[in-house]
Amino acid sequence: MALQLGDIAPDFTAPTTEGDISFHDWLGDSWGVLFSHPKDYTPVCTTELGFTAKLKPEFDKRGVKAIGLSVDSVADHEGWSKDIQDTQGVAVNFPMIADADRKVADLYGMIHPNASDTLTVRSVFIIDPSKKIRLTLTYPASTGRNFNEILRVIDSLQLTDKHKVATPVNWQQGDDVIIVPAISDGEAKGMFPDGWDEQKPYLRVVKQPKA
Ligand code: BEZ
Repeated sequence: MALQLGDIAPDFTAPTTEGDISFHDWLGDSWGVLFSHPKDYTPVCTTELGFTAKLKPEFDKRGVKAIGLSVDSVADHEGWSKDIQDTQGVAVNFPMIADADRKVADLYGMIHPNASDTLTVRSVFIIDPSKKIRLTLTYPASTGRNFNEILRVIDSLQLTDKHKVATPVNWQQGDDVIIVPAISDGEAKGMFPDGWDEQKPYLRVVKQPKA
């Protein structure tokens, strides 16, 4: 069965552009973004990896490690990284897994045979510090992902974990948030002493708590 939210992200060892890794050890106490792309030396992937490298300061601020994957070799990843630097103006600053035997792709269900028998689709897994999968996302090969959205989801998840708030439609940093339904009004009084806007008993809107 496909991996689902709340499952523990499967552990694995694999060669990467930064040496062999043992995935859970490599994650340590960080959040992780594991993402696959169909193939090295392809145009959409080139832009995605460049943009992800540019986001490194944002990932660092949030305690997140990014790691890419395709079924190409470390040598291919290294050669292609030079093209990414040439065209995107940034060096790849996170490891890329060389999953030539598709071990990791199979563990994570990144190969969708009706799309391609051999290439990974564009999957994303957001993994929290307890190694639980908190988001899965699958895009077709021809559509580049929105990595700003991935950051936005991490912000939302971290707010929920820390402050027991959820984020409404199209939420962006600084916008109002929603007290999660599992928190009673009594508990909420202690957590949000300035009060909230009760639009319905189940829709309690509050200023975004400070980090
Ligand atoms: C790309 O990364 O550009 C790509 C890969 C496979 C199919 C279409 C586009």
